[in-house]
Amino acid sequence: MKFFLDTANIEEIKRINGLGLVDGVTTNPTIIAREGRDFETVIKEICALVEGPVSAEVISLETDGMVNEAREIAQWADNIVVKIPMTEAGLAAVHILNKVGIKTNVTLIFSVAQGLMAAKAGATYISPFVGRLDDIGVSGINLVVELRQVLDKYGLKSEIIAASIRNIEHVEATALAGSHIATIPGSLFPKLWTHPLTDNGIAQFMMDWAEFSK
Ligand code: E4P
Repeated sequence: MKFFLDTANIEEIKRINGLGLVDGVTTNPTIIAREGRDFETVIKEICALVEGPVSAEVISLETDGMVNEAREIAQWADNIVVKIPMTEAGLAAVHILNKVGIKTNVTLIFSVAQGLMAAKAGATYISPFVGRLDDIGVSGINLVVELRQVLDKYGLKSEIIAASIRNIEHVEATALAGSHIATIPGSLFPKLWTHPLTDNGIAQFMMDWAEFSK
C-alpha cells in the first residue's frame, strides 16, 4: 500500500519524506488556501521535494476550463496529477485529458457508481472520501471495499486513493480493504508510528539499565 501526504505544508512534507514514507502528495483548494501562499509556487516546491505523484486541483467547473487549467498545471512538473471534481463536466475533461496523457485524480467520490464512471472515463486515480461519508452515517470503508472489488472484477486500471482519512483506524481499515493508496493528513501521520506502550517500554528499559549500571 502506498501513503500519500494530504497536505501542502512544506515542513510536514520534509519531515515525513525524510523517513521514506511519502509516495505522493494530494492537495485541494482548502489545503492550498490554508498555507496562504501562491498555488503554483507551492505545488512546484512540493513536486521538487517528492518523487511520486502530486495532485493539484482545478477551480473551473466547465469542461473547457478544466482542460485548459489542467494543460497549464501539467506543465509545472513531470509528477503532476490534475485533480478533477466528480461531475459530468469533470468526466468529459478526464476523457480528453486521458487521451493526451495527462494524469487525473477524480475527487469527491461518494458511491460505487461514481467511482465506476470515473474509472471508465479514464481516471488515473479515484478518490473516495471516507471520513465525510462516516460523518453522514455511511461506511466510507465499505465504499473502498466495494470500489476495489469492482475495479478488479472488470480489470479497470484506476487506482483508489482513500481520502478524507481522519484517524489510525481509517488507515488500517483502508489497508485491509485493499485501497491502493491512503492519503493522510500531516497531523495524523506521526500517530501511525507511535504507541504509548512503546514509549513506556523504552522508559522502563532506560530506568532498568541506569539502575544496573550504577
Ligand atoms: C484529498 O484528496 C481530499 O481532498 C482530502 O482528503 C479531503 O479531506 P477532508 O474531508 O478531511 O477535508
